[in-house]
Amino acid sequence: MPRTLNSAVLLVAAGLLVGTPAHAADGGQLYKFYCAQCHGLQGKGDGPNVVKDFPVDPRNFTKADEMNKLSDADIRNVILDGGPVANKSPMMPPWSKTLAKDEVDALVKQLRALCKCKGKS
Ligand code: HEC
Repeated sequence: MPRTLNSAVLLVAAGLLVGTPAHAADGGQLYKFYCAQCHGLQGKGDGPNVVKDFPVDPRNFTKADEMNKLSDADIRNVILDGGPVANKSPMMPPWSKTLAKDEVDALVKQLRALCKCKGKS
């Protein structure tokens, strides 16, 4: 294969890897990939990124009483625009440039599964 074609193929493959960490919107996979390092695999806010001097604890998604204070729209906004949009810490990053709408929807469902709660309507 000519060299240029070869690297074009590689670029496409790399693009696929970066662009789609999980095929279609699989909330569980997306969560593991983007959120678990801070919020913890089980959603308890104890991911490996969270060190002693982390200024705030990431939300514990298993606390239904806390998660019920948020509507699905609240969760969606925080995921898209980051902590500051809800007067929370910028340690919660914005994901609007990273995630597609269906991926954000899948993540909202994933968090509801973790808290086993429906949230504020
Ligand atoms: C770099 C660490 C980090 C990553 C990665 C991260 N978060 Fe957070 N998140 C935080 C922190 C810290 C808070 C708590 C902010 C506060 O209480 O001021 C938070 C808070 C939240 C909240 C709660 C906001 C509220 O009003 O209580 C939601 C929802 C949330 N994160 C969703 C997610 C989702 C979904 C992902 C993956 C796409 C994610 N986070 C990735 C650190 C992170």
